Amino acid sequence: MDVDAILAEATRLDGDDPLASQRDRFVIPDPDLAYLDGNSLGMTPRTTVHRIHEVMNDEWADGLIRSWAHWLDMPLTAGDELAPLIGANDGEVVVHDSTTINLHQLLHAAVALRPGSTHIAVDPGEFPTDRYAVAAVAAQHGLSVRNPSPGTSLDETDLNGCAAVVRSLVDYRSAAVADLIGFTKHAERAGTLVIWDLSHAVGAIEVDLPAASVDMAVGCTYKFLNGGPGAPGFSFVRAGLVEEVDHPIRGWFGQDDQFDMDADWRPKPGVGRLMIGTPSILSLEAARCGIAISAEVGAPALASKSRALTTFALDLVDRLGLLSDTDRDPHRRGAHVAVRHPDAEAINTALATSHNVVADYRRPDVVRLGCSPLTTRFVDVARAIVALRLEIDQRA
Ligand SMILES: Cc1ncc(COP(=O)(O)O)c(C=O)c1O
Repeated sequence: MDVDAILAEATRLDGDDPLASQRDRFVIPDPDLAYLDGNSLGMTPRTTVHRIHEVMNDEWADGLIRSWAHWLDMPLTAGDELAPLIGANDGEVVVHDSTTINLHQLLHAAVALRPGSTHIAVDPGEFPTDRYAVAAVAAQHGLSVRNPSPGTSLDETDLNGCAAVVRSLVDYRSAAVADLIGFTKHAERAGTLVIWDLSHAVGAIEVDLPAASVDMAVGCTYKFLNGGPGAPGFSFVRAGLVEEVDHPIRGWFGQDDQFDMDADWRPKPGVGRLMIGTPSILSLEAARCGIAISAEVGAPALASKSRALTTFALDLVDRLGLLSDTDRDPHRRGAHVAVRHPDAEAINTALATSHNVVADYRRPDVVRLGCSPLTTRFVDVARAIVALRLEIDQRA
C-alpha cells in the first residue's frame, strides 16, 4: 500500500472540490481529526455558536416572554426552510419533536386513514426506533406486524390489507437507497401509506418527495443537516392529504387557536396540526442554522459531493482489499460506506485511539464511514481507509 500516493491523490481531490470551503463554516477544534461520523452527529456550524448566544442574550434574557411572539411559529418556519432539501413545498414540513415521536404520530394517523386494515409492514433490518414504533402502534390498534418473507424485500411484499409501511430511504447500515418512486407506487396500488424515514438521506442525497407522490415522511436534523445534539426531527405530509390527518398525540401547539384555553382540540390547518407541546427554542434555532447551510448549498451540490466522497472511499476499499456491501452504483447509496470485518468493534476503537479517526461501529460487523458533504475531506476518507487496512493487517 503506497500511503503517500493515496494521500496525495486525496489532497488533489480536496483541491478540486467546489465545496471544500464549506468546511470553514464549522468549528474545527482539531484540524487533524478525521471525523467520519457526521451521519450520527454532524459538526457544529459557526453560525450556531453565535446564534445561540444571541438567542440567549437578546431573545431570552432581554426579550423574556415577549419573544414567544415570534417563537410560536418557529417549527413551521424551520419546516419551510428545510422543505427545498426534500423537494417539498411551503407548509408541507414542520420541525418538531424527535423523529421517534413524529413517527408514532404519523403511524397513528396512517392507520386511522386506512380503517379495516390488518397489519403494518416493516423490514426486520430497519432502524430499531422505527421497528419499535411500528410494533407499538400496531399493538394499540389490534393490528399485526408483517415483515417481508425471508430472502425477499418490501419491494416484493404483497401489501394488500396493509395500513402503512415504515421504510428508510437510506439504510442506516449498508447505505442502500430504496426505490422512492417505485415502492411508493407499489404501496399506493395496494392502498397502503408509506412513511419514509429520511434520517440518512436529507442533506446527503437528492430527494424529491412530490415527484414520487410521497404521502408522509419523517427525519432527523442532527446528522447531515448539522442541527446539533438532540435537534428536533421533522414531519412531512403532502398538502392534499394533511387536512385528513387526525392523530391522538395532541397538544396545545397543534390547536387551531392555541390561546382559546377552554376550547376542545381543533387541529390547526395544515401541517401545524402535528405540533404538540412547547418546542425547545434553543434546539430549534440550532437546527435552523444547520438547515440554512445545507439549503444554501442545495441538494444537487450536496449529493454530488456525497457521491464523489463515497466513490473515492469505495475505490480505496476495493484497491486495498477491504470488504464492503455498500452499492457501487453511486445513485444507489447514501453518504456513508459500510466496511465489514468480524473485529469491527475493536477496529473502530483503534481507529480513534491510534489514528485520530472517528467513525462508528454497528453490530455485528460494520464500521461505518460517514461522508458528510459539507465537512468531510477526501484526506479524511483516505486516512480512515488506510488506518482500517493497517488495523486489519495487525489482526491477521
Ligand atoms: C433511520 C433512523 N431513524 C430514526 C433515528 C432516531 O430518531 P430519534 O431522533 O428519535 O432518536 C435514527 C437515529 O440514528 C435513525 O438512524
